[in-house]
Amino acid sequence: MSKKIFSGVQPTGNLHLGNYIGAIKNFVSLQNDPNNFCIYCVVDLHAITVKQNPFELKKNIRETAAAFIASGLDYKKSIIFNQSLVPAHAEGSWMLSCIARMGWLNRMTQFKEKAGKDKEKASVGLYIYPVLMAADILLYDATHVPVGEDQKQHLELSRDIANKFNLDFDSPNFLTPPEPLIQKNFARIMSLKDGTKKMSKSDPSELSRINLNDTSDQVLNKIKKAKTDNDPLPDNQNELSKRPEAENLLGIYSSLSDQPLNTTIKEFSGQNFSSFKEKLADLAVHKILPISKEINKLLKDENFLDNVLIEGAEKANQIASEKIKQLKKIVGF
Ligand code: TYM
Repeated sequence: MSKKIFSGVQPTGNLHLGNYIGAIKNFVSLQNDPNNFCIYCVVDLHAITVKQNPFELKKNIRETAAAFIASGLDYKKSIIFNQSLVPAHAEGSWMLSCIARMGWLNRMTQFKEKAGKDKEKASVGLYIYPVLMAADILLYDATHVPVGEDQKQHLELSRDIANKFNLDFDSPNFLTPPEPLIQKNFARIMSLKDGTKKMSKSDPSELSRINLNDTSDQVLNKIKKAKTDNDPLPDNQNELSKRPEAENLLGIYSSLSDQPLNTTIKEFSGQNFSSFKEKLADLAVHKILPISKEINKLLKDENFLDNVLIEGAEKANQIASEKIKQLKKIVGF
């Protein structure tokens, strides 16, 4: 079955192994299936829901585009663009924010986490962020959205918004409720310092994550210092649920070597962490270093990156502006 794929990544710096394994790696395999039509967006409108330094933001937009390309996305096969170049996203987001209910947004756990204790001081943008995400997806009639586990609730909201719009305006099937594509064992890559916490750009400890632009020494050092427990590696998956650090590191190894988790468990069963970590570090350097080098090479050619984004935005704009036109007609404008 042919799929229409849409996904996005925020240009907030420090793209890490969680973004790569949970999302970008999957973007590439979806793109390489000729049945799929793929659109990948650098979601800069989402980024400004928390304060950004304008100079850094510009740099991070290019860096995210570079990370997409360095990881294997091909701007000739997929549409690659940044969100703020296509006005339909902001316009669609407004219209859908009149469909979404406060009660639905109040349940969003990511807002609660990001807003922290002082919700009153969070931006309104941060609160309605999932509605912008729904607009991103629904404007392109995306059928499937590859994301990590943390975005699952936002996708359910996108489905609710699509269904309510279709019902309210008696326009069945106008908006397509999207299906999440979440990889089974690798949807939540955890911090290298705490196997119960998600690997995240906002973690103050650099040792908690491997960044896509780390040097080989940094990758080796971070894996060497990654938290472990005292037992040898287990021989079955059930035992992993009680050993979050072992589960995370074996998961990372499996994803990077493109083999099922069970195969990795068998490969290392009974071994101690130090020998496993050596193999993991070799593999991570082997996989990450070419990406890191390519990102740095691409960043030297700002014109090239800007042109990829502009040309992608022209293609995206054709699709999204047509959908907005239809949306306006349905709403009565
Ligand atoms: P963002 O920029 O936080 O993350 C980009 C992608 O990386 C995944 N991810 C992870 N996966 C596994 N383990 C982790 N530790 C980890 N950390 C991040 C995220 O799940 C995501 O898939 N709201 C989105 C961006 C967005 C979007 C969209 C996504 C905006 N519009 C439309 C899909 C469709 C976000 O903030 O992702």
